Amino acid sequence: MKAVAVRKGETNPTIVEKPRPDPDAGEALVRTLRVGVDGTDHEVLSGAHGGFPDGEDHLVLGHEAVGVVADPNGTDLTEGEVVVPTVRRAPDGGNEYFERGEPDMAPEGEYHERGIVGAHGFMAEYFTSPAESLVSIPPELADLGFLVEPVSITEKALEHAYAARSAFDWQPESAMVLGNGSLGLLTLAMFEHTEGFDRTYCLGRRDRPDPTIDIIEDLGATYVDSRRTPVDEVADAHEGMDLVYEATGYAKHAYQTIDALAPNGVGALLGVPESWEFEIDGGKLHNEFVLHNKALVGSVNSHVGHFESAVETLAALPDPFLDDLVTGVYGLDDLDRAFDDDDTTIKTAVELAAYEKR
Ligand code: NAP
Ligand code: BGC
Ligand code: ZN
Repeated sequence: MKAVAVRKGETNPTIVEKPRPDPDAGEALVRTLRVGVDGTDHEVLSGAHGGFPDGEDHLVLGHEAVGVVADPNGTDLTEGEVVVPTVRRAPDGGNEYFERGEPDMAPEGEYHERGIVGAHGFMAEYFTSPAESLVSIPPELADLGFLVEPVSITEKALEHAYAARSAFDWQPESAMVLGNGSLGLLTLAMFEHTEGFDRTYCLGRRDRPDPTIDIIEDLGATYVDSRRTPVDEVADAHEGMDLVYEATGYAKHAYQTIDALAPNGVGALLGVPESWEFEIDGGKLHNEFVLHNKALVGSVNSHVGHFESAVETLAALPDPFLDDLVTGVYGLDDLDRAFDDDDTTIKTAVELAAYEKR
């Protein structure tokens, strides 16, 4: 079968031939339909994030997948069921986080992430997965099922952010997304359509005309240009935000978020930056945290429960937004376009097989 991989020493995706995998006991064989591409895939390609499976000279890419069960292999799944796989798998021997169903809380070194670190991904004609790591989705969502994983990332981050504000009567009205990439825009759509904030903002660093700014404004949010309004000046320009969701991976934003928050606000940090040393006024930030009851939470990955919520959320997002977000779905013969990183590309996916309803 064909798979899309990055070879050691290279930074571009390549099509490789691999044997079709055989499911072990408890695993199903899945025929892959589509696999989304996000900023993490670009970080994996550049070598900034992730790592190869032990003893392998390549990594099959892809962690945002949707497929159809080809062989349930004695599991509770049904042939033809449309499924989305979770990303983390237990390293040899397993551990308590996986046993508890909370692999997303496992510390580094205690998990593999398919297509990212230590395990091949889903960008292949077939993949196998333990049945408990496959989440069933309605067939109507098959075409957009590759968005379930990124939506699940925000389901988790919001759960943790709201939990950090659960000890008092928190009534958030305003929310700001930092970053107009695919994760940022999906999250902004959730703020508008499923989270119900009164005032929403999205920060980028682009000039008009730009398709992401059009999406932001079509959603009813305000575009904020970080070149004119740095994150630590947002509160002066627009009032402090009850919630800030960082999806830029720009390390200064983690600290500037503290200043962008309203009293009692919470910031969720999602970005995965490389090392960068810079000066901050630690005393001022410490004081700001304490005297205004602010919170910051970091959040990575997501578990089955977040995927299940994400399926409902995705179904509630408006079609015009999703049409604008997904700028291209490409076959293997047009692979390079799926990995384009220009300003007209927002969310892409690679199609391995078309969905045929039974
Ligand atoms: P992406 O497509 O690269 O989006 C990042 C966006 O942030 C880009 O649109 C970029 O703008 C914008 N940006 C970067 N620096 C900025 C600045 N200084 N001011 C304003 N805008 C800025 O990536 P993504 O897929 O949306 O993911 C976003 C981040 O979340 C990445 O760091 C990714 O690794 C991380 N992530 C984390 C998780 C998790 O589980 N924690 C899950 C998924 C993704 P331009 O395009 O104009 O440069
Ligand atoms: C993936 C997560 C993963 C994270 C860190 C994200 O792009 O969606 O599942 O945990 O990268 O590797
Ligand atoms: Zn991702």
